[in-house]
Amino acid sequence: MSRCEKYRQYFTRDCLMGPNSFRLLDELIRRAPESSCYNRTLDLGCGMALTSVFMANETPAKQVYAFDLWVSATDNYERIRSLGLEDRIVPIHGDATDMPFAHGFFDAIVSVDSYHYFGCKKGVFAEKILPFVHKGGQVMIAVPGLKEEPKGEMKDLFETWAEGDDALCFRTVQWWQELLEEECGDQCGITVTEGECCDEAWEDWFNTGHPFAVRDREFLSKGLNRILNFVYMYVQRR
Ligand SMILES: C[S@@+](CC[C@H](N)C(=O)[O-])C[C@H]1O[C@@H](n2cnc3c(N)ncnc32)[C@H](O)[C@@H]1O
Repeated sequence: MSRCEKYRQYFTRDCLMGPNSFRLLDELIRRAPESSCYNRTLDLGCGMALTSVFMANETPAKQVYAFDLWVSATDNYERIRSLGLEDRIVPIHGDATDMPFAHGFFDAIVSVDSYHYFGCKKGVFAEKILPFVHKGGQVMIAVPGLKEEPKGEMKDLFETWAEGDDALCFRTVQWWQELLEEECGDQCGITVTEGECCDEAWEDWFNTGHPFAVRDREFLSKGLNRILNFVYMYVQRR
């Protein structure tokens, strides 16, 4: 059984917040450099902390910090405690652009389907995120993105789906690579690549029947699926 299958009970409209983050996280860490250390890991934009549960159960992480803005630390603590993981996962409420940790505190930062909400602006990564991993530490990010810039009818379809500023959160592999290189290329090793589990992650989300998932399915089946992907970023601080 794959690691993700163990979490199938959470592939529901009450637990998923978008394309299946278990599949994305599983692939993200499977493709991470072998040398990655997870002892003290920050799950940045953890949502309902289910990705933190996955990290605690499926990696050598000793302590996972489950950090999120929209979901309260109390809600996440109840969920974490119900799973008996309260000694391993620390829920914290806050904004990723103003984190309360000591610089150099983490071995790894992982972020699934969240970073694009706050990280598209120049300066965020180098100033607000990178300082919290120590030298040699790894930041791993999975965000929904674009295979190519949409044009013509595809652009209209995309902008009707993504609505307003949300459209600006979707970027190509090349766009993210350039942003990170510009911000911290001199102090980090950077790899940006495309994920492979995009279709399955979306299909699991559609199958929840969540009203947003019903809308997403409608738009993706009109052709949007041809330009959407997931972008994985690996940044190791030297
Ligand atoms: C689509 S949900 C994904 C949650 C979770 N990572 C998962 O995959 O299930 C996006 C998450 O990003 C978080 N987020 C957005 N902006 C944030 C910010 N500025 N600081 C911290 N978290 C943020 C939200 O609170 C939300 O839970």
